[in-house]
Amino acid sequence: MIIRTEQDVTQAVLDELDRATDPRFKEIMQTAVRHLHAFIREARLTEAEFQQACAVIARVGQATTASHNEVVLAAGSLGVSSLVCLLNNGGQAVTEMPEDRPPTGVHGAPQAPGGTTANLLGPFWRMGSPPTDSGASIVRSPTPGDPIFVEAWVKDPAGRPVAGAEVDVWHSSNEGFYENQDPAQADMNLRGKFVTDADGRIAFRSVKPAGYPIPVSGPVGELLRAQGRHNMRPAHIHFLIFKEGYKTQFSQIYSSDDPNLDTDVQFGVTQALVGHYEPHPAGTAPAADVTGPWYSLTQTFVIEPGVAKLPRPPISAKADGPRPTLTVLART
Ligand SMILES: [Fe+2]
Repeated sequence: MIIRTEQDVTQAVLDELDRATDPRFKEIMQTAVRHLHAFIREARLTEAEFQQACAVIARVGQATTASHNEVVLAAGSLGVSSLVCLLNNGGQAVTEMPEDRPPTGVHGAPQAPGGTTANLLGPFWRMGSPPTDSGASIVRSPTPGDPIFVEAWVKDPAGRPVAGAEVDVWHSSNEGFYENQDPAQADMNLRGKFVTDADGRIAFRSVKPAGYPIPVSGPVGELLRAQGRHNMRPAHIHFLIFKEGYKTQFSQIYSSDDPNLDTDVQFGVTQALVGHYEPHPAGTAPAADVTGPWYSLTQTFVIEPGVAKLPRPPISAKADGPRPTLTVLART
């Protein structure tokens, strides 16, 4: 098509996309083109702003390495990851905890019903977490922090336990670093893979994670500074649940005592994912080597029948440079 007006451009691109043979590709790309062109018209994007946008997108890719994924950070910081998650996991209910377990103590409080337990994968999942026996520790090198004892149950939508599900867990240290970012931590520290027992249960020991700032040395940092946003994620533990016959679920369970639950830089916190990280006094831990204060967390996940498929790992290696400097932006 010879372009006569600015309106012709949109139709010309849509017409070319009509040639695509994959119907889903065609649908996605035509929708994207319609909205992208509408965005440019509504914002009245100038040539200078367009050049700036191209440069930012290029730098998002250039900032992505085997141990850092700026694209995932950008998607999260714009709410895109959370929107995709919620659109694809709507209507899933969290079941109550079994009645035969005590409501407090190491077995924890019942879960609030309602809302999916699915959440963002995040940029820090690594393939190949070490298989770990239920009840064992995922602290693989000296790591400061209060001990935490975690129990988790995996259920189907009818509340029946799902046995034999593989559950990857991973989280940051209480200094705010994932092991892949931190040469002071052993490879795969604070990561492990568990398999649910006949009750759909796993358990593990670790240290209570801290909230952490997402990296702001790249374009995502510029995005946040321009909005006067902080870059903190509330403390959380990640879970990835894989079982043939069920849709693979990513989840994060956020710490109810974190001050940034309302302003998560990745927009990931839903009420169903606020876990009760219960504090306990010294001298009451279920392990003799824990003499000080400690925490417990219990959580039930509900997975849906569907296709089991592991995601593409956002990173594939541990960084070999020095520990990065953590930069915390103020919310202004
Ligand atoms: Fe995380």
